[in-house]
Amino acid sequence: MNDLMSLGIHRLWKDHFVRNLNPGRNPLTSSSSSEKGWNILDIAGGTGDIAFRMLDHASTINNDAHTKVTVADINPDMLAEGRKRALETPYARSPRLDFIEANAEKLDMIPDASIDLYTVAFGIRNFTHKEAAIREAYRVLKPGGVFACMEFSKVNNSLFDAVYKRWSFSAIPLIGQVVAGDRDSYQYLVESIERFPSQTEFRDMIKDAGFLVPGQGWEDLTGGIAAIHKGVKPA
Ligand SMILES: C[S@@+](CC[C@H](N)C(=O)[O-])C[C@H]1O[C@@H](n2cnc3c(N)ncnc32)[C@H](O)[C@@H]1O
Repeated sequence: MNDLMSLGIHRLWKDHFVRNLNPGRNPLTSSSSSEKGWNILDIAGGTGDIAFRMLDHASTINNDAHTKVTVADINPDMLAEGRKRALETPYARSPRLDFIEANAEKLDMIPDASIDLYTVAFGIRNFTHKEAAIREAYRVLKPGGVFACMEFSKVNNSLFDAVYKRWSFSAIPLIGQVVAGDRDSYQYLVESIERFPSQTEFRDMIKDAGFLVPGQGWEDLTGGIAAIHKGVKPA
């Protein structure tokens, strides 16, 4: 469904998201010899789409065989799908990949200041208390750690926006009905995208939680259909 709805573009966004974060500690260039690899928490990451890319990038680009990803999701069925997909990767039975059932708004099982990189891709839009989730991200990150969120956002060109709205409000529920037999969920999807804060509003929510925000705070993808926001926990 993701492929159909986004014409496959979500895969390019995810590749870009991971490449840009450049996960992993390259043993040849890293100044720190004591710490091995990054400790990454991928929230709302049930299917493992982001986690597998992170581990592939750390291994192949940064020659890092220690970086570890914990995939957290509130939905056990999504985690089961992720575990199933992991069987087709080299990480299935490795200590580098873990799946936990957790609500992003209350991550009691994750200690304070234990995470190098917190990612959430196309998940935060669905959280009931987004501010609480961002505060939890702040708590679990180490000083200097990075919060990175990729989410649907606001299109920044009015003509493109009109075309995009027409596509999303008419085609997406229809595709949902025909392909997945579930019009209502896809209607909810487009409405939740519409309700999600704008790029500046979301950037300010990240700042309000205490993060430092580099530059303008976000990068638009495909004219703002999606955006990547980042925050750094002060060292
Ligand atoms: C659209 S999927 C995104 C999956 C994946 N990150 C990706 O990009 O393909 C949204 C996910 O958010 C999860 N989710 C929703 N509310 C959550 C919460 N409060 N805490 C953790 N996960 C949540 C859902 O279970 C679902 O797996």
